[in-house]
Amino acid sequence: MKNWVLIGLMGSGKSAVGRALAQGLGCRFLDTDSLIEKRVGLTVPEIFSRHGEGWFRAQEALVAEEVGNESGCVIATGGGMVIHPANMEALHRNGHLIFLTARPEVILERVKRRPKSRPLLNEGGDLLLKIQQLLKERESYYRQAVIHCDTSDRSVSEIAREIYKRVSEIEGNKWHPQRAS
Ligand code: S3P
Repeated sequence: MKNWVLIGLMGSGKSAVGRALAQGLGCRFLDTDSLIEKRVGLTVPEIFSRHGEGWFRAQEALVAEEVGNESGCVIATGGGMVIHPANMEALHRNGHLIFLTARPEVILERVKRRPKSRPLLNEGGDLLLKIQQLLKERESYYRQAVIHCDTSDRSVSEIAREIYKRVSEIEGNKWHPQRAS
């Protein structure tokens, strides 16, 4: 059984949707940022400030390799996971990718709710511009996903239900899924 891997910019809903989707499918949920935090014993912002982005990316690559060997899981990834080809290769190995996106203005509103949790957006300057830039830089990677879903104006359960339907169409009855909530 393949994994279902959520990719997309920060604030696109990967963790919330991933949790709901895993619950609906009755499978394990993994979050690569949480796995890094657990392994290192620091939060993502602490890792960035103590060790720098490069060190975080090295940890992220190790976790990509590990989750790439899992099967039958829903996996939420950090927004920058896609920029390294080896990570994409690991995630593709045994997984289908799902791209969650939202309008930059919506992402801005969401990330403003927890401003300290996203170190890449704490460097000063125009936040909306930064979000637009990141999206532009990463869109070609995100677009490699088999399912694309705009989360801008919908609830987590609506989005999870839609993805659940698409996943079931692709997987047939291999998942033996429960009903999505
Ligand atoms: C990052 C996104 C974050 C986290 C780190 C870097 C990025 O994850 O991995 O702050 O490069 O876009 P979320 O997408 O879950 O916020």
